[in-house]
Amino acid sequence: MIKISPSILSADFAQLGREIEAIEQAGCDWVHVDVMDGHYVPNITIGPDVCAAIRPHIKTVMDVHLMIEPVDIYLKAFADAGADHISIHPEAGPHLDRSLQVIRDLGCKAGAALNPSTPETILENVLDRLDLVLVMSVNPGFGGQNFLPSQIAKIKRIKAMIGDRDILIEVDGGINPETAPLVTAAGADVLVAGSAVFGKGAQDVSAYENNIRAIRAAGNSQLK
Ligand code: DX5
Ligand code: ZN
Repeated sequence: MIKISPSILSADFAQLGREIEAIEQAGCDWVHVDVMDGHYVPNITIGPDVCAAIRPHIKTVMDVHLMIEPVDIYLKAFADAGADHISIHPEAGPHLDRSLQVIRDLGCKAGAALNPSTPETILENVLDRLDLVLVMSVNPGFGGQNFLPSQIAKIKRIKAMIGDRDILIEVDGGINPETAPLVTAAGADVLVAGSAVFGKGAQDVSAYENNIRAIRAAGNSQLK
């Protein structure tokens, strides 16, 4: 069964606690938190203090996606803020193997996030340090962009590379009921969705429930 991780990037930032409670009531599996620094990506969002503030509102899983460079010096701050998962971009630090070890040593699940142009071969030698591979199906930085079909073949290659290891493939960017089946057919286990869950933000639980249900049903329809 596919998991849904709504990106709170598309939530109403003035009411993050309430928004998180609403998507959890609406049945999401994880809560995806996009951290951007205005340097690694051309947008600035939230930091460890906001993560710590929203943590008590999250009953499921705090799925933190770090789009920051350098990343290593901030790993502990996000673990201390309560992250369950920390995903990092290989380009954001000099030693991916070491960074993944640090994330696990901090008690979190470790993820590597791949930009659309980043080849999956960068993971070949660190597979045993990974709990998650986060495949970006848009260039990171903003919600509401169009899904890049070039990533479908990459997801298939990653699925083959993972083999029987306990590593989930999470796909992030432009996911909606039309694109969800394309990525689950290729091997995705977890779907991140911002605009397709929140719409224009601050809607009610039943709207979020319908949106999550539609993405989940579309994704599950392609499971073998
Ligand atoms: C982009 C972020 C995504 C984004 C997804 O840099 O990592 O999580 O918010 O938003 P949608 O679903 O609107 O593409
Ligand atoms: Zn993300």
